[in-house]
Parts: sequence; C-alpha cells; structure tokens
Amino acid sequence: MRLAVLTSGGDSPGMNAAVRTVTAVGLGRGHEVMGIRGGYSGLLEGDAMDMDLATVNGISGFGGTILGSARSSFFPTPEGQEQAMARLESMGIEGLVVIGGNGSLTGAHMMAQRKKCKIVGIPASIDNDIGHCGSAIGVDTAVNTIVDACDRITDTARAHRRAFIVEVMGRQCGFLAMRAGIAAEADAILYAESGLGEDQLVSKLRDVLRKCFNSGWHKKRVLIIKAEGVKVATSTLVERLQKHLTEDAPGVEIRETVLGHVVRGGRPSAFDRVIAQRMAYASVLALENGRNDVMLSWDVPGGHGQATQDPFVRIVDLGEVLEETERLVDGTSPVIKARLALLKQVEDLLLI
Ligand code: F6P
Repeated sequence: MRLAVLTSGGDSPGMNAAVRTVTAVGLGRGHEVMGIRGGYSGLLEGDAMDMDLATVNGISGFGGTILGSARSSFFPTPEGQEQAMARLESMGIEGLVVIGGNGSLTGAHMMAQRKKCKIVGIPASIDNDIGHCGSAIGVDTAVNTIVDACDRITDTARAHRRAFIVEVMGRQCGFLAMRAGIAAEADAILYAESGLGEDQLVSKLRDVLRKCFNSGWHKKRVLIIKAEGVKVATSTLVERLQKHLTEDAPGVEIRETVLGHVVRGGRPSAFDRVIAQRMAYASVLALENGRNDVMLSWDVPGGHGQATQDPFVRIVDLGEVLEETERLVDGTSPVIKARLALLKQVEDLLLI
C-alpha cells in the first residue's frame, strides 16, 4: 500500500515517535510511506515527501513534530474536504494516519465518511481531552514538565515565604492541573470543571492562604495550580488576593507564573515514546486489515473498543471517540465524574 502520515493541531511531545514508527513499520512491511507536511493545510496543498529510515532515524526523542503542524479553518468546509480527498487521490494514498487531538480527529472522521482512502487516528494532545483514551501522546511529558517547573517555583517561594499561582495549559480540560497538582503537592488546584466563579475562587484561596501562613504553621510556601480553562484571569486572582493578604497574612506576597507553551515542549518521556510507538505499530496493521474511521487508543486491557495484537492498544470507532470527547468536555462523562470524585477525596489532603 501507499501510506501517508501527518501530524495536526497542537503539537505534543511524542508525535515524532509515532511518525518514526509508522514509517519504520510501514517500510519494513513492504509499504510506501509518505509524510505530509504542515498538517491539514499541507494536505490541501499536496505538500508531501517520501519517508525513509534516514529521515526518521533518532527522532523519537525530539519534541514537536518533524512534519510540522497547523490549524486549518478551510479544511473542515465542504470545499476543503473535496480538495483534501482530491489530493489524497492524486497522490495515490490508500491509507492515512492522522496524529493529533480533537480537531484533527474530527477532520479524520469527516474524511473517513467518504470511504475512499482509509483513515486511522492516533490520539496526541497534552490536554488528555480525547474520549476513550487512557493517556494521549504528550500528556505524561507535559505533567512532568509542569511538576519540574513547580518544584523550581517552590525553591524560590520557600526562600521568601511566598504564594504562587502557576497557570498551565488545558484549554477545555483540567487534567494537567489536577495530576501535576497532586504530584507537586500543590495547596490548591483550580480547574474549570469545578464551576467556581471569581468570588468563590477568591474565598477558597483566602482560606488556603490563611491556614498555610498562620503563625506556627509549617508551610513555607503556597502553590496554587490553575488550568488555563478557568475563566478568571490569573492576574485578577493575584491582585485581589494580594489586597487580602495585608490583613490575612501581613508581609506575605503572592506572584504568578504562566507556563504557556513551555508545557508543550521538551523531549518526550519514555512513557510517551512507548505508547506512541505501540499505537503507531497498531495503526499500520489496522490499515493493512482495511480498517477505516477508527482511532488507536492507549487503554487498559478489556477497555472500550476492540482488541489489537497489543493488550494495551485498543481500536475505537472515531464517531464513538468524538461523542465521548464531548462528554469529557461537558462533564457528563463517567470518566470526568470519577476523576473529580477522586480529586475531591484527596483535596483535603492537599492542606496537610
Ligand atoms: O490543545 C492543546 C493546547 O496546547 C491547549 O492546551 C492550548 O490552549 C492550545 O493548544 C494552544 O493552541 P496554540 O498553540 O494554537 O496557541
């Protein structure tokens, strides 16, 4: 077969490990492999290159994506879809692997409906906001990056008995803030799923600051991790809390650090490299078996979807993935409910 691979949407550490494996396994099993540059924008332009082992040798440890990525507003339009399918046909591509997050997988699902070129998706998004997937590519690395940054902030905060609000990525999902907050022993974790408004957040954080900085208390720093999806600006929280601190804990200052795209960079962790490689391997086999409109997923054995040759890699229909993704974002998914319930249990432990 003539296969192609592209990376799309927000890049995530580990994408290159998936690109390498699709290429190496595809070539090793006798297929041609093309790399489409620049995500769906590149597909619309027919910007493709032949992939060989030299191109992908050693890239598993690189952050970002050697193929480049882009966000295309034209691609999802009917004209964009026509142009994309025409490009795939003109390049003779029989199977396409799309590595990306929700927007990318939505695009893959749209193309797969045409039932021409076979399309399979691999979940890659640091937000971990993809349905029926235990861990998307990039999540583990992003959590470690945040925890490392929080450890560094803690060093300097302790030196000055300061409070810090560290804002992290996670446009619609607070997973990164939740997991990194637990690992970094944050004193408070703010996430949009809590539904708290500005005054409620200020009141909650005042309680935390008062308890932690009360005389005789052993805390030398207060670390608050905030997901960017919380619609109250970090600077607003800092400004309001600093005013209260003059009364609640005189002499204590509160500062902010917005990690932004730092969270998305860096060398992928071993875990992200391995799950990327294992899902990518299964994606080539899925295309060989004629599968279309599916996503490979990293999940527990017996999890949602169908089994593959790898006990931890499942095959899930893309339509089901996108439906569950919506439930993850609107909070009705059992996964989100369980995640919030678990966090509630440990939240009291944050202040020990
Ligand atoms: O979806 C991943 C993500 O990193 C979000 O966490 C973040 O809000 C968004 O992408 C940023 O997108 P961009 O890099 O296009 O600004």
